[in-house]
Amino acid sequence: MSLDFFAPCPRGLEAALAAELAETAQQRLPPGALQVGAEVPGGVHFRGNWAGGIAANLHSRIASRVLLKIAQRPYRSEQDIYELAREQRWDQWFTPDETLRVDITAIKSPLRSLEFATLRVKDGICDRMRDKAGARPSIDTAYPDVRVFAFLTANECTLYLDTSGEPLFKRGWRLDKGAAPLRENLAAGILRLTGWTAGTPLYDPMCGSGTFLAEAAQVAQDIAPGLDRRFGFESLKQADMAAWRHLKSEANTARNAAQSKPRDLLIFGSDISDVMLEKARANFKRAGFGNVPLKQLDARNMTPPSDAPGVLVANPPYGERIEVRGRNARGEARPTARELRGDDDEGFRRAKDEAPDAEFFQALGDALKQRFTGWRAFVLTSDRKLPGQLRLREAAKTPLYNGALECRLFRFDLIAGSVRQRPASGGANPAAGKDNGNGDAN
Ligand SMILES: C[S@@+](CC[C@H](N)C(=O)[O-])C[C@H]1O[C@@H](n2cnc3c(N)ncnc32)[C@H](O)[C@@H]1O
Repeated sequence: MSLDFFAPCPRGLEAALAAELAETAQQRLPPGALQVGAEVPGGVHFRGNWAGGIAANLHSRIASRVLLKIAQRPYRSEQDIYELAREQRWDQWFTPDETLRVDITAIKSPLRSLEFATLRVKDGICDRMRDKAGARPSIDTAYPDVRVFAFLTANECTLYLDTSGEPLFKRGWRLDKGAAPLRENLAAGILRLTGWTAGTPLYDPMCGSGTFLAEAAQVAQDIAPGLDRRFGFESLKQADMAAWRHLKSEANTARNAAQSKPRDLLIFGSDISDVMLEKARANFKRAGFGNVPLKQLDARNMTPPSDAPGVLVANPPYGERIEVRGRNARGEARPTARELRGDDDEGFRRAKDEAPDAEFFQALGDALKQRFTGWRAFVLTSDRKLPGQLRLREAAKTPLYNGALECRLFRFDLIAGSVRQRPASGGANPAAGKDNGNGDAN
Protein backbone atom coordinates (compact mmCIF):
# COMPACT_ATOMS: atom_id res chain seq x y z
CA MET A 1 0.00 0.00 0.00
CA SER A 2 1.44 3.37 -0.98
CA LEU A 3 0.98 6.13 1.59
CA ASP A 4 1.42 9.89 1.17
CA PHE A 5 3.25 11.74 3.92
CA PHE A 6 4.09 15.36 4.58
CA ALA A 7 6.95 16.34 6.87
CA PRO A 8 6.77 19.96 8.08
CA CYS A 9 10.03 21.64 9.11
CA PRO A 10 11.34 25.10 10.10
CA ARG A 11 11.12 27.39 7.06
CA GLY A 12 14.42 27.61 5.23
CA LEU A 13 15.33 23.97 5.89
CA GLU A 14 13.17 22.32 3.21
CA ALA A 15 16.08 21.34 0.95
CA ALA A 16 18.09 20.10 3.93
CA LEU A 17 15.14 17.96 5.04
CA ALA A 18 14.65 16.56 1.53
CA ALA A 19 18.35 15.58 1.45
CA GLU A 20 18.10 14.02 4.91
CA LEU A 21 15.01 11.98 3.96
CA ALA A 22 16.72 10.79 0.77
CA GLU A 23 19.71 9.69 2.85
CA THR A 24 17.45 7.79 5.27
CA ALA A 25 15.79 6.06 2.33
CA GLN A 26 19.12 5.09 0.82
CA GLN A 27 20.91 4.00 3.99
CA ARG A 28 18.19 2.44 6.11
CA LEU A 29 15.30 1.23 3.94
CA PRO A 30 14.59 -1.15 1.08
CA PRO A 31 13.98 0.51 -2.32
CA GLY A 32 10.58 2.20 -2.63
CA ALA A 33 9.87 2.47 1.12
CA LEU A 34 10.44 6.24 1.10
CA GLN A 35 10.45 8.34 -2.05
CA VAL A 36 11.07 12.02 -1.55
CA GLY A 37 8.61 14.28 -3.35
CA ALA A 38 8.11 18.03 -3.66
CA GLU A 39 9.63 20.61 -1.34
CA VAL A 40 7.10 23.30 -0.46
CA PRO A 41 7.51 26.27 1.90
CA GLY A 42 7.59 24.75 5.39
CA GLY A 43 7.97 21.08 4.52
CA VAL A 44 8.58 18.15 2.19
CA HIS A 45 6.14 15.62 0.69
CA PHE A 46 7.16 12.00 0.48
CA ARG A 47 5.52 8.73 -0.43
CA GLY A 48 6.15 5.18 0.68
CA ASN A 49 5.01 2.50 3.07
CA TRP A 50 4.76 2.36 6.86
CA ALA A 51 8.45 1.53 7.22
CA GLY A 52 9.21 4.78 5.35
CA GLY A 53 6.96 6.85 7.61
CA ILE A 54 8.35 5.22 10.73
CA ALA A 55 11.97 5.60 9.60
CA ALA A 56 11.33 9.32 8.98
CA ASN A 57 10.01 9.65 12.54
CA LEU A 58 12.92 7.74 14.01
CA HIS A 59 15.77 9.22 11.97
CA SER A 60 14.79 12.71 10.85
CA ARG A 61 16.55 15.42 12.84
CA ILE A 62 15.04 18.23 10.77
CA ALA A 63 11.32 17.38 10.41
CA SER A 64 8.94 18.76 13.04
CA ARG A 65 6.41 15.98 12.43
CA VAL A 66 5.49 13.27 9.95
CA LEU A 67 1.87 13.57 8.80
CA LEU A 68 -0.02 10.86 6.95
CA LYS A 69 -2.39 12.17 4.29
CA ILE A 70 -5.94 10.83 4.74
CA ALA A 71 -8.00 12.91 2.29
CA GLN A 72 -7.87 15.98 0.07
CA ARG A 73 -10.70 17.81 -1.68
CA PRO A 74 -11.74 21.28 -2.79
CA TYR A 75 -13.94 23.13 -0.28
CA ARG A 76 -15.89 26.35 -0.10
CA SER A 77 -17.50 26.25 3.31
CA GLU A 78 -17.16 24.76 6.78
CA GLN A 79 -19.90 22.29 5.81
CA ASP A 80 -17.68 20.94 2.99
CA ILE A 81 -14.92 20.41 5.53
CA TYR A 82 -17.31 18.66 7.93
CA GLU A 83 -18.43 16.30 5.17
CA LEU A 84 -14.87 15.49 4.12
CA ALA A 85 -14.00 14.66 7.75
CA ARG A 86 -17.18 12.62 8.24
CA GLU A 87 -16.55 10.48 5.14
CA GLN A 88 -13.17 9.20 6.32
CA ARG A 89 -12.79 5.77 7.90
CA TRP A 90 -11.33 7.01 11.18
CA ASP A 91 -12.53 3.86 12.92
CA GLN A 92 -9.91 1.94 10.92
CA TRP A 93 -7.19 4.02 12.59
CA PHE A 94 -8.27 4.42 16.19
CA THR A 95 -11.04 3.56 18.66
CA PRO A 96 -13.37 5.83 20.64
CA ASP A 97 -11.22 5.06 23.69
CA GLU A 98 -8.37 7.12 22.25
CA THR A 99 -8.40 10.86 22.99
CA LEU A 100 -8.31 13.30 20.07
CA ARG A 101 -7.01 16.74 19.20
CA VAL A 102 -7.60 18.62 15.94
CA ASP A 103 -5.45 21.47 14.60
CA ILE A 104 -5.85 23.62 11.50
CA THR A 105 -3.27 25.53 9.51
CA ALA A 106 -4.52 27.80 6.73
CA ILE A 107 -2.95 29.80 3.94
CA LYS A 108 -5.27 32.24 2.16
CA SER A 109 -8.40 30.42 3.35
CA PRO A 110 -11.57 32.46 2.75
CA LEU A 111 -13.19 31.04 5.91
CA ARG A 112 -13.92 33.62 8.56
CA SER A 113 -13.24 31.50 11.65
CA LEU A 114 -10.57 28.83 11.73
CA GLU A 115 -11.76 27.95 15.21
CA PHE A 116 -15.18 27.06 13.78
CA ALA A 117 -13.56 25.11 10.94
CA THR A 118 -11.54 23.15 13.54
CA LEU A 119 -14.77 22.34 15.40
CA ARG A 120 -16.35 21.11 12.17
CA VAL A 121 -13.42 18.73 11.51
CA LYS A 122 -13.75 17.45 15.06
CA ASP A 123 -17.55 17.05 14.65
CA GLY A 124 -17.07 15.15 11.39
CA ILE A 125 -14.61 12.72 13.00
CA CYS A 126 -16.72 12.24 16.13
CA ASP A 127 -19.99 11.73 14.19
CA ARG A 128 -18.30 9.14 11.98
CA MET A 129 -16.89 7.33 15.01
CA ARG A 130 -20.30 7.34 16.74
CA ASP A 131 -21.93 5.87 13.62
CA LYS A 132 -19.33 3.15 13.08
CA ALA A 133 -17.98 2.39 16.54
CA GLY A 134 -20.91 3.35 18.75
CA ALA A 135 -19.11 6.08 20.71
CA ARG A 136 -17.12 9.24 20.09
CA PRO A 137 -13.57 9.92 21.26
CA SER A 138 -13.00 12.51 23.99
CA ILE A 139 -11.02 15.63 23.24
CA ASP A 140 -7.72 16.14 25.03
CA THR A 141 -5.78 19.17 23.81
CA ALA A 142 -2.81 18.61 26.16
CA TYR A 143 -1.95 14.92 25.82
CA PRO A 144 -4.06 13.46 23.01
CA ASP A 145 -3.51 9.89 21.81
CA VAL A 146 -4.41 10.88 18.25
CA ARG A 147 -3.91 14.18 16.45
CA VAL A 148 -5.57 15.20 13.22
CA PHE A 149 -4.25 18.15 11.22
CA ALA A 150 -6.29 19.98 8.61
CA PHE A 151 -4.49 22.12 6.08
CA LEU A 152 -6.50 24.70 4.16
CA THR A 153 -5.41 26.58 1.08
CA ALA A 154 -7.65 29.07 -0.73
CA ASN A 155 -9.80 26.22 -2.10
CA GLU A 156 -8.46 22.87 -0.95
CA CYS A 157 -8.68 21.01 2.35
CA THR A 158 -6.25 18.23 3.27
CA LEU A 159 -6.71 16.03 6.32
CA TYR A 160 -3.69 14.39 7.92
CA LEU A 161 -3.22 11.94 10.76
CA ASP A 162 -0.17 12.82 12.80
CA THR A 163 2.21 9.86 13.10
CA SER A 164 4.64 11.69 15.42
CA GLY A 165 2.64 12.73 18.51
CA GLU A 166 4.87 15.13 20.40
CA PRO A 167 6.82 17.20 17.85
CA LEU A 168 9.97 15.47 16.67
CA PHE A 169 12.30 18.15 18.04
CA LYS A 170 11.36 16.80 21.47
CA ARG A 171 14.00 14.11 21.55
CA GLY A 172 13.38 13.19 25.17
CA TRP A 173 16.73 14.20 26.65
CA ARG A 174 16.49 17.97 26.99
CA LEU A 175 15.00 18.85 30.34
CA ASP A 176 17.44 21.65 31.14
CA LYS A 177 16.80 24.64 28.91
CA GLY A 178 18.29 28.08 28.79
CA ALA A 179 16.30 31.24 28.26
CA ALA A 180 16.61 31.10 24.47
CA PRO A 181 17.44 27.53 23.47
CA LEU A 182 17.38 26.58 19.83
CA ARG A 183 14.93 23.94 18.77
CA GLU A 184 16.76 20.71 18.16
CA ASN A 185 15.53 20.41 14.57
CA LEU A 186 16.65 23.95 13.71
CA ALA A 187 20.08 23.22 15.20
CA ALA A 188 20.30 19.94 13.28
CA GLY A 189 19.28 21.64 10.03
CA ILE A 190 21.91 24.34 10.55
CA LEU A 191 24.57 21.68 11.17
CA ARG A 192 23.65 20.11 7.84
CA LEU A 193 23.82 23.52 6.12
CA THR A 194 27.33 24.04 7.51
CA GLY A 195 28.48 20.88 5.74
CA TRP A 196 29.95 19.58 9.02
CA THR A 197 30.52 15.84 9.11
CA ALA A 198 31.58 13.60 12.00
CA GLY A 199 35.34 13.72 12.56
CA THR A 200 35.66 17.41 11.63
CA PRO A 201 36.23 19.64 14.69
CA LEU A 202 33.09 21.50 15.75
CA TYR A 203 33.05 24.39 18.24
CA ASP A 204 30.16 26.41 19.69
CA PRO A 205 31.62 29.26 21.81
CA MET A 206 28.17 30.35 23.09
CA CYS A 207 26.75 26.89 23.53
CA GLY A 208 24.05 27.61 26.12
CA SER A 209 22.20 24.38 26.87
CA GLY A 210 24.27 22.70 24.13
CA THR A 211 21.78 22.07 21.32
CA PHE A 212 24.27 22.21 18.40
CA LEU A 213 26.73 20.06 20.33
CA ALA A 214 24.17 17.45 21.35
CA GLU A 215 22.85 17.10 17.82
CA ALA A 216 26.38 16.78 16.45
CA ALA A 217 27.43 14.26 19.12
CA GLN A 218 24.40 12.12 18.29
CA VAL A 219 25.24 12.25 14.58
CA ALA A 220 28.87 11.32 15.34
CA GLN A 221 27.76 8.37 17.48
CA ASP A 222 25.01 7.23 15.11
CA ILE A 223 22.32 7.74 17.76
CA ALA A 224 18.91 7.99 16.06
CA PRO A 225 17.16 11.13 17.33
CA GLY A 226 13.91 9.30 18.07
CA LEU A 227 15.38 6.29 19.84
CA ASP A 228 14.33 7.36 23.35
CA ARG A 229 10.82 8.64 22.75
CA ARG A 230 7.34 7.50 21.86
CA PHE A 231 5.45 8.26 18.65
CA GLY A 232 1.85 8.91 17.64
CA PHE A 233 1.84 5.96 15.23
CA GLU A 234 2.14 3.63 18.23
CA SER A 235 -1.56 4.44 18.94
CA LEU A 236 -2.71 3.90 15.34
CA LYS A 237 -4.33 0.55 14.52
CA GLN A 238 -2.86 0.08 11.05
CA ALA A 239 0.71 1.14 11.74
CA ASP A 240 3.22 -1.59 10.90
CA MET A 241 4.57 -2.41 14.35
CA ALA A 242 6.81 -5.17 12.97
CA ALA A 243 8.56 -2.54 10.83
CA TRP A 244 8.88 -0.35 13.94
CA ARG A 245 10.45 -3.14 16.01
CA HIS A 246 12.89 -3.91 13.19
CA LEU A 247 13.93 -0.27 12.65
CA LYS A 248 14.26 0.36 16.38
CA SER A 249 16.36 -2.73 16.92
CA GLU A 250 18.69 -1.71 14.05
CA ALA A 251 19.01 1.78 15.56
CA ASN A 252 19.77 0.30 18.99
CA THR A 253 22.44 -1.95 17.48
CA ALA A 254 24.04 1.05 15.72
CA ARG A 255 24.10 3.07 18.97
CA ASN A 256 25.55 0.18 20.98
CA ALA A 257 28.23 -0.42 18.34
CA ALA A 258 29.26 3.25 18.37
CA GLN A 259 29.27 3.42 22.16
CA SER A 260 31.36 0.29 22.52
CA LYS A 261 34.17 2.09 20.63
CA PRO A 262 34.48 5.44 22.43
CA ARG A 263 36.53 7.95 20.44
CA ASP A 264 37.33 11.60 20.51
CA LEU A 265 34.33 13.30 18.94
CA LEU A 266 36.22 16.58 18.34
CA ILE A 267 33.09 18.46 19.47
CA PHE A 268 33.70 21.37 21.85
CA GLY A 269 31.64 24.00 23.62
CA SER A 270 32.05 27.03 25.84
CA ASP A 271 29.80 29.68 27.34
CA ILE A 272 30.27 32.56 29.72
CA SER A 273 27.58 31.24 32.04
CA ASP A 274 28.43 28.37 34.38
CA VAL A 275 24.70 27.86 34.93
CA MET A 276 24.22 27.21 31.22
CA LEU A 277 27.18 24.83 31.15
CA GLU A 278 25.66 22.84 34.01
CA LYS A 279 22.44 22.55 32.01
CA ALA A 280 24.39 21.41 28.95
CA ARG A 281 26.24 18.76 30.99
CA ALA A 282 22.97 17.45 32.46
CA ASN A 283 21.46 17.27 28.96
CA PHE A 284 24.47 15.43 27.52
CA LYS A 285 24.36 12.90 30.34
CA ARG A 286 20.70 12.16 29.66
CA ALA A 287 21.35 11.98 25.91
CA GLY A 288 23.94 9.29 26.55
CA PHE A 289 27.29 10.95 25.91
CA GLY A 290 29.70 12.60 28.27
CA ASN A 291 32.83 13.21 26.26
CA VAL A 292 32.04 16.72 24.96
CA PRO A 293 34.50 19.09 26.66
CA LEU A 294 32.85 22.28 27.95
CA LYS A 295 34.66 25.36 29.21
CA GLN A 296 33.49 28.51 30.96
CA LEU A 297 34.83 31.30 28.77
CA ASP A 298 33.98 34.72 27.37
CA ALA A 299 33.66 34.17 23.60
CA ARG A 300 35.94 37.17 23.02
CA ASN A 301 38.78 35.17 24.55
CA MET A 302 38.11 32.00 22.60
CA THR A 303 40.91 30.04 20.96
CA PRO A 304 40.62 27.07 18.58
CA PRO A 305 39.95 23.93 20.63
CA SER A 306 41.67 21.61 18.13
CA ASP A 307 44.87 21.61 16.10
CA ALA A 308 43.04 21.08 12.83
CA PRO A 309 40.63 23.80 11.70
CA GLY A 310 36.95 22.97 11.63
CA VAL A 311 33.49 24.46 11.84
CA LEU A 312 32.48 27.10 14.39
CA VAL A 313 28.76 27.52 14.89
CA ALA A 314 26.90 29.81 17.27
CA ASN A 315 23.74 31.68 17.91
CA PRO A 316 24.81 34.66 19.98
CA PRO A 317 22.35 36.53 22.13
CA TYR A 318 20.04 38.58 19.93
CA GLY A 319 19.57 42.21 20.85
CA GLU A 320 15.85 41.68 21.01
CA ARG A 321 15.97 38.37 22.86
CA ILE A 322 18.65 38.35 25.52
CA GLU A 323 21.44 40.69 26.32
CA VAL A 324 25.10 39.98 25.74
CA ARG A 325 26.83 39.32 28.97
CA GLY A 326 30.40 39.36 30.12
CA ARG A 327 33.17 41.85 30.45
CA ASN A 328 33.62 44.82 28.20
CA ALA A 329 36.77 45.42 26.19
CA ARG A 330 38.39 47.17 29.15
CA GLY A 331 37.83 44.06 31.25
CA GLU A 332 35.21 45.66 33.47
CA ALA A 333 32.47 43.34 34.61
CA ARG A 334 29.20 44.34 33.06
CA PRO A 335 26.27 43.42 35.30
CA THR A 336 23.10 42.34 33.62
CA ALA A 337 19.91 44.18 34.41
CA ARG A 338 18.78 41.09 36.27
CA GLU A 339 21.93 41.20 38.37
CA LEU A 340 21.29 44.87 38.99
CA ARG A 341 17.83 43.95 40.18
CA GLY A 342 19.45 41.30 42.36
CA ASP A 343 17.65 38.32 40.83
CA ASP A 344 20.24 36.95 38.45
CA ASP A 345 20.07 33.19 38.36
CA GLU A 346 21.00 32.46 34.78
CA GLY A 347 23.10 35.35 33.64
CA PHE A 348 20.82 36.82 31.07
CA ARG A 349 17.38 38.29 30.61
CA ARG A 350 15.01 39.07 27.83
CA ALA A 351 15.68 42.62 26.73
CA LYS A 352 13.55 43.76 23.85
CA ASP A 353 14.65 47.33 23.92
CA GLU A 354 18.43 46.88 24.13
CA ALA A 355 20.64 47.41 21.10
CA PRO A 356 23.03 44.57 20.30
CA ASP A 357 26.40 45.11 21.86
CA ALA A 358 28.59 46.56 19.10
CA GLU A 359 31.74 46.36 21.18
CA PHE A 360 31.18 42.69 21.92
CA PHE A 361 30.67 41.78 18.28
CA GLN A 362 33.70 43.76 17.15
CA ALA A 363 35.84 41.85 19.67
CA LEU A 364 34.25 38.58 18.57
CA GLY A 365 35.08 39.40 14.94
CA ASP A 366 38.68 40.17 15.96
CA ALA A 367 38.93 36.80 17.74
CA LEU A 368 37.70 35.04 14.60
CA LYS A 369 40.08 36.92 12.29
CA GLN A 370 43.10 36.64 14.52
CA ARG A 371 42.83 33.11 15.87
CA PHE A 372 40.58 30.99 13.68
CA THR A 373 42.41 30.94 10.38
CA GLY A 374 41.25 28.04 8.27
CA TRP A 375 37.92 27.67 10.10
CA ARG A 376 34.49 28.23 8.66
CA ALA A 377 32.26 30.14 11.06
CA PHE A 378 28.44 30.08 10.95
CA VAL A 379 26.42 32.51 13.00
CA LEU A 380 22.63 32.45 13.33
CA THR A 381 21.14 35.82 14.16
CA SER A 382 18.09 37.95 13.53
CA ASP A 383 20.39 40.96 13.20
CA ARG A 384 21.15 41.56 9.53
CA LYS A 385 23.91 43.97 10.46
CA LEU A 386 25.97 41.27 12.14
CA PRO A 387 28.70 41.03 9.45
CA GLY A 388 29.26 44.78 9.75
CA GLN A 389 29.47 44.51 13.51
CA LEU A 390 31.97 41.64 13.25
CA ARG A 391 33.81 43.59 10.52
CA LEU A 392 33.77 40.48 8.40
CA ARG A 393 32.31 39.94 4.97
CA GLU A 394 29.98 36.95 4.81
CA ALA A 395 30.64 34.27 2.20
CA ALA A 396 26.97 33.28 2.26
CA LYS A 397 23.74 34.01 4.08
CA THR A 398 20.72 31.75 4.36
CA PRO A 399 17.31 32.96 5.56
CA LEU A 400 15.94 30.74 8.34
CA TYR A 401 13.13 31.01 10.85
CA ASN A 402 13.69 30.46 14.56
CA GLY A 403 10.02 30.03 15.44
CA ALA A 404 8.42 33.20 14.10
CA LEU A 405 11.68 35.14 14.24
CA GLU A 406 13.24 35.71 10.81
CA CYS A 407 16.96 35.04 11.02
CA ARG A 408 19.99 34.70 8.79
CA LEU A 409 22.67 32.04 8.97
CA PHE A 410 25.84 33.92 8.00
CA ARG A 411 28.88 32.00 6.81
CA PHE A 412 32.37 33.45 7.18
CA ASP A 413 35.32 31.71 5.55
CA LEU A 414 38.36 32.52 7.65
CA ILE A 415 40.86 31.62 4.97
CA ALA A 416 44.51 32.41 5.68
CA GLY A 417 45.57 35.73 4.18
CA SER A 418 42.19 36.46 2.66
CA VAL A 419 39.74 37.04 5.47
CA ARG A 420 37.15 39.23 3.88
CA GLN A 421 36.63 42.19 6.10
CA ARG A 422 34.46 45.19 6.14
CA PRO A 423 34.16 48.12 8.48
CA ALA A 424 31.37 48.50 10.98
CA SER A 425 28.03 49.16 9.30
CA GLY A 426 27.38 52.86 8.99
CA GLY A 427 31.14 53.55 8.86
CA ALA A 428 32.48 56.16 6.46
CA ASN A 429 34.91 53.83 4.67
CA PRO A 430 34.18 54.03 0.93
CA ALA A 431 35.18 50.36 0.60
CA ALA A 432 32.31 49.40 2.91
CA GLY A 433 30.64 46.20 1.76
CA LYS A 434 33.49 45.27 -0.58
CA ASP A 435 36.45 43.02 0.00
CA ASN A 436 39.19 45.49 0.88
CA GLY A 437 41.84 43.17 -0.52
CA ASN A 438 44.18 43.73 2.40
CA GLY A 439 43.84 40.24 3.76
CA ASP A 440 43.82 39.43 7.43
CA ALA A 441 44.04 42.27 9.92
CA ASN A 442 46.82 40.55 11.85
C1 LIG B 1 20.97 32.44 22.37
S1 LIG B 1 21.87 31.67 23.63
C2 LIG B 1 22.50 30.23 22.87
C3 LIG B 1 21.53 29.13 23.00
C4 LIG B 1 22.12 27.79 22.63
N1 LIG B 1 22.40 27.68 21.20
C5 LIG B 1 21.16 26.71 23.08
O1 LIG B 1 20.62 26.03 22.23
O2 LIG B 1 20.89 26.61 24.28
C6 LIG B 1 23.29 32.66 23.77
C7 LIG B 1 24.30 32.16 24.78
O3 LIG B 1 25.39 33.08 24.76
C8 LIG B 1 25.94 33.10 26.05
N2 LIG B 1 26.76 34.33 26.16
C9 LIG B 1 26.37 35.61 26.33
N3 LIG B 1 27.43 36.44 26.35
C10 LIG B 1 28.53 35.65 26.18
C11 LIG B 1 29.93 35.91 26.10
N4 LIG B 1 30.40 37.13 26.23
N5 LIG B 1 30.75 34.85 25.90
C12 LIG B 1 30.28 33.59 25.78
N6 LIG B 1 28.96 33.30 25.88
C13 LIG B 1 28.10 34.31 26.06
C14 LIG B 1 24.75 33.06 26.98
O4 LIG B 1 25.13 32.59 28.26
C15 LIG B 1 23.83 32.09 26.23
O5 LIG B 1 23.99 30.78 26.70
